[in-house]
Amino acid sequence: MRKVLAYLFFALPLLTACSRGEDPYVIGVSQCSVDAWREAANNEIMQEASFYGDVTVNIRSVHDDSEQQVEDIEKFISEKVDLLVISPNESASLTPVVEKAYRSGIPVILYDRKVDSDQYTAFIGGDNRQIGSIAGSYAMSTLRNSGRICVIRGTKGSTADTERYEGFMEALRDNTEFSGEVVAEEYANFNRQSAERVMKSLLNSGEGPFDLVFAFNDEMAAGVYDAYTASEIDDKPYILGIDALLAPNGTGTISYIQNGMINASFIYPTGGKEVVDLARAILKGEDFDKENVLNTEVVNSSNVRVYQMQINQVLERQQRVEELNSRIRTTSSKYERQQILTIFSFSLVAILALLSIALAYSYRTRNKLVEMLNEQNTRIKKQIDSLEAQKKQLLDLSEQLEETTQAKLVFFTNISHEFKTPLSLISGPIDDLIANKDMPESAQVPLDILKRNSSKLERLITELLDFRTYENSKMVVNYSMGDMDKFLQEILKMFADVIRRRNLKFSYEADDAGYEIPFDPIKFEKVFTNLLSNAFNHVDKEGTIRIRLYSTWEGADRTVNLSVFNSGSYIPPENMEKIFHRFYTLDVQQKGTGIGLALVTSITDALGGTIKVDSKEGVGTEFTLQLPVEKGLRTDARVDKSYVPEFAKLKLATMGEEDADAGILDEMAPSDKKRVLVIEDNMDMRYYIRNILSSEYNVIMAKDGTVGLSKAQLFLPDIILCDIMMPGLDGYEVCSALRSAPATKNIPIILLTACSLDEQRARGYESGADAFMQKPFNVTTLKVRMKKLLEKSESITAEIQGDWLIGKDAGTLSSEAAAMLNKFREYVESHILDDISLDDLAGVLGYSKSKLYRELKEVTEYTPIDLVNLVRLHKAVDLMTAEHQNITEAAFNSGFSSPSYFSRTFLKYYHMRPKDYLKGKQSGSAGT
Ligand code: FRU
Repeated sequence: MRKVLAYLFFALPLLTACSRGEDPYVIGVSQCSVDAWREAANNEIMQEASFYGDVTVNIRSVHDDSEQQVEDIEKFISEKVDLLVISPNESASLTPVVEKAYRSGIPVILYDRKVDSDQYTAFIGGDNRQIGSIAGSYAMSTLRNSGRICVIRGTKGSTADTERYEGFMEALRDNTEFSGEVVAEEYANFNRQSAERVMKSLLNSGEGPFDLVFAFNDEMAAGVYDAYTASEIDDKPYILGIDALLAPNGTGTISYIQNGMINASFIYPTGGKEVVDLARAILKGEDFDKENVLNTEVVNSSNVRVYQMQINQVLERQQRVEELNSRIRTTSSKYERQQILTIFSFSLVAILALLSIALAYSYRTRNKLVEMLNEQNTRIKKQIDSLEAQKKQLLDLSEQLEETTQAKLVFFTNISHEFKTPLSLISGPIDDLIANKDMPESAQVPLDILKRNSSKLERLITELLDFRTYENSKMVVNYSMGDMDKFLQEILKMFADVIRRRNLKFSYEADDAGYEIPFDPIKFEKVFTNLLSNAFNHVDKEGTIRIRLYSTWEGADRTVNLSVFNSGSYIPPENMEKIFHRFYTLDVQQKGTGIGLALVTSITDALGGTIKVDSKEGVGTEFTLQLPVEKGLRTDARVDKSYVPEFAKLKLATMGEEDADAGILDEMAPSDKKRVLVIEDNMDMRYYIRNILSSEYNVIMAKDGTVGLSKAQLFLPDIILCDIMMPGLDGYEVCSALRSAPATKNIPIILLTACSLDEQRARGYESGADAFMQKPFNVTTLKVRMKKLLEKSESITAEIQGDWLIGKDAGTLSSEAAAMLNKFREYVESHILDDISLDDLAGVLGYSKSKLYRELKEVTEYTPIDLVNLVRLHKAVDLMTAEHQNITEAAFNSGFSSPSYFSRTFLKYYHMRPKDYLKGKQSGSAGT
């Protein structure tokens, strides 16, 4: 559509342009004088030009002034007119400019008068010589061949004057019968007044009488008449003129004959029409004659009347033609207007047609669009319907879920309540037992474990029940008046010991706003204790915990702010929201059940407060509790002075688990006992197992899978007990990793599981476990299981003497192979400081070198060089652990050429550097 309009926009001017013709030719006309003859000539030229639309005429006239005329012509040249018509005032002074115009390429028509050059395109005008000659003959016949003649000449130097004179004189000379003569001659510049003046002076000076005066134009002839009239000479001469100019309504010089002022004249045709015709022919490149002579005729009293009549008729016709012409012009301009109108109408019709097409097209498009939209609508509607259905389904489901959840919660709450009584029945007697001084020392650890875990259970159940209350929006706030500042200090006292033990930088500040305000001590304690325990759980080693109590006001509304900051932890912005959700912890390695902060939120909500968290990477995390101080609240209740922060106590009892790890056994203490590695994330379970096994085994402990794996590599235990459900690496992953490392490949592994699912077992066996123990396990059963597994492993590897050969399943060795390997090992050990060559080894075993290579590879999957390295490494480990040699000593004493080569080899086979091994050994002996 846009294209169509654009087309019309451009096409319309083109269509209208068709009605216009080409630019007309410009013809410059330079006239030498201003008089009746020139005026008549100019009118004819303009009239003729107006018949044709293809020429424009521009006339410039001077008053017989040659200089001025030259300037006019120069101007035409510079305007680059298409053609010049020049009637030169004088011949000599105008010749150069005429030639210049001609040479510049402008066609030049000389009109009426000539120049002294043939550099012009054409000439048109009367033949002045001929006129002169005819005038001579006429004069002589009028004078009957005798008499006195006076000649009044025109402009000196003009060809009109010269030629007329020559023609006249020639005619007189040629007639031998003529006895008369020219007795006087004067110039009068083709001007009436000049001629009168000249004639008067001739008469006054006695040059007369004259029988005939020949003036070179009618105006001067009239001047002669004027002079005679003024001189009151009755005997007037025969006066002869030139021009016989005819003009409408009797004007023009012909009237001088009619009214008897002059006697005769010769028609000097103006020829305006002919000038235009000639010009157009030249401009259009048509054929034309260079010299165009216009005829002359004598007019005197005998023919002037007829002549005038004829001329009048011609003039009338001309006038009618003129009228017709003007009518034609009107009609043609009307026609032009109509033509434009037609074109415009046509264009309009075309536009309308195109618009209609475009409209039809857009209507069709619109219809299509509407159709498409309708289809889309239908589709969307269908989608909405199906979404509605889905939503309904989801609602149903969520209702069902809600019901189930409610049922579960009810069950959960009930069972939690059920737990409470037996738990208090457990914790009471535990307290008694702990208080009992008669209890043997060996009972202390299990009693501590019992105490800590019963407290933990109590706390968890309390949190759960609180949370449940919150979920049901049943939390009731019980306000009491009390000093919040003091209240907080009381709670903090309980944590003093932990702070000291963990060497934390701790501070508590309260501003002096006064904190004797109403608050719910139990709920406030829970929130604060949870925030505090959160800080303890996440603060970095020997880091900072900072607590501030301060008030802010908005008008009269007071808010109490309690902020708890701990250094060392960072919560990224994307996790900020989540931390307040139930059971969310930043990562499983972190402590806490995940109820703590959710409980904080729920209680804060119930108290009408908010909780904010601000965390900066590399700095720490700050939780701020903001509680409104209830203004109008009056309560008689007071916070009991002897209020015991029960929840804090419970929290505290289950905190600082890692502190309890102090005093761990030196796992690498030399001992005859077999080494068992216990990988268990629950500290109490870990210690419980250590307790039951420590009399028979040297127990190494690891708190998670990662630590377990590195300790297994370090201490190469005889057997491993590993929990399945652990944060980080779980039991299966630990198992697979142990099985894929050559050094730990054959260590028996017992997986400890909390459930008896076959699927778990299958996965366990798949990952390489040797046996399963289901928690809670029978101690005797565990011990027997371990013993049997160890026996089995020992019976297979007994002959290998130790665990130097890593990466080979000992169970598949034949006794011959075992014997061969023992021999090999003994030889290497006894030559540990020597360079051992393959020849030596082959000799010792009685093989060729290639057989040695083949046999060893087949039995152990190692090359002889590998095996020599393994014996040396084993020796080095012994030296470092049993004899406390440093790395350099152990390297050289086990036959390695340099400590760095030793380190590389160690890394290759044991996947760690000796330095790390020793570090691990030291930390292993200091903690888990
Ligand atoms: C007009 C006129 C005529 C005469 C002609 C000669 O200017 O003087 O009267 O015939 O010029 O060029």
